[in-house]
Amino acid sequence: MMTQEENTLLTRTGRGTPGGELLRRYWQPVALSEELPSGGAPLNVKILGEDLVLFRDDKGRAGLLGIHCSHRGTDLSYGRVEDGGIRCLYHGWLYDVEGRCLEQPGEPGGGEHRDAIRHLAYPCKETGGVIFTYMGPGAPPLFPNYEFLNASSDHLYVAKIFHECNYLQANEGNIDPVHLSFLHRFLENRQEQYRGVRGAEESHYNLVARNITPILDVELTDFGVRIYTVRKLSAEKAYLRVSYFILPNLSAFPGQTGGEGYSVNWHVPIDDDHHWKYTFIYSAGTPLNEKIINRERSELTPDYRLVRNEANRYLQDRESMKTKTYSGMGVGFQAHDAFVTSSQGAIQDRTDEHLVSSDKAIVAARKILEKAIRDVQEGREPPHVIREPSQNRFPHLLVVSDMIPDTQDWKEYTRKLEAEARAKL
Ligand code: FES
Ligand SMILES: [Fe+2]
Repeated sequence: MMTQEENTLLTRTGRGTPGGELLRRYWQPVALSEELPSGGAPLNVKILGEDLVLFRDDKGRAGLLGIHCSHRGTDLSYGRVEDGGIRCLYHGWLYDVEGRCLEQPGEPGGGEHRDAIRHLAYPCKETGGVIFTYMGPGAPPLFPNYEFLNASSDHLYVAKIFHECNYLQANEGNIDPVHLSFLHRFLENRQEQYRGVRGAEESHYNLVARNITPILDVELTDFGVRIYTVRKLSAEKAYLRVSYFILPNLSAFPGQTGGEGYSVNWHVPIDDDHHWKYTFIYSAGTPLNEKIINRERSELTPDYRLVRNEANRYLQDRESMKTKTYSGMGVGFQAHDAFVTSSQGAIQDRTDEHLVSSDKAIVAARKILEKAIRDVQEGREPPHVIREPSQNRFPHLLVVSDMIPDTQDWKEYTRKLEAEARAKL
């Protein structure tokens, strides 16, 4: 349980709020590359409560500018993309991706004071099919060198999903491993599609249904929280999952490619009551299975909304709850997760919750988030803002989904894998 003050501190994301200032210290996804094809229309985007225009100039560079023209405020997302920038429809002022005003064509001499204009502009970087931006003060930190963002397109699937709730509660769902045994449980034997668990003869689906009371253990890392989830399955075997909360608003966990890859959910506030969940599925080994991609796509409308949503009660089917799925909401996990987190309320009232032992990862994540917010408030750089190239590597962001001997110490096991990953760098 939290106080109202603590809940407000962690969930408010607008400019000037302590939580919003923390989020602005890190690179954040602002759109999918596919939303902004070259020669395409600019996008009006809202992120962290700020209304902005995202456009691709005639050299292919992405620019993110304040949406209201510096002259008299007209919406730039209706503007013309030409001549090295975006041009306001009202009087033709032209802005480049850095917010410089290149032309004021209605003024004598093209505007003698146009250089005095510095329109709001945030730097962009495009990788892994996503356009990222940095909205904080000063020089942007190094772009985090996560392995999944360097993957080729046949090894990385990315999409975004509209959520009608605060970003934090949805990210808390990613670091809550117990819910896999309930919300996402299949009631029938389900072996197909899923390799998922190294060394297992059964699918992940079956394993999480066989032990619904896992052991949880958490450890702090320099970028967030490592979560060990251990499900003992027999006298000889246990199923170990290792997942992560990563500052400030993402998580990594074994998803549909567990065993040879992982998934990442990155929850980016639109405002305090809505967010985009950027979801990445990464396969380090073989190229992604078409079936996985098709299933993910089938959950979404072309405008990145869920087909199953609150308006249609997630198409819950009570008949299927008897024999097929625990939730009655189909086999796609995205709708399940959207349901549980959005139905907590636009901003979950954490003064009214009752945390238990299996919420320990959530408690740990809230603590480091709060500490990071205090760091910013007190003028310190928060953790995981990367300035040194030597710090910009993450062999210890090691997602595990393995069967291990029941007698094996899971931390030792994970550290051994980590040492192997370091040796490969
Ligand atoms: S309001 Fe945009 S050019 Fe005048
Ligand atoms: Fe989930």
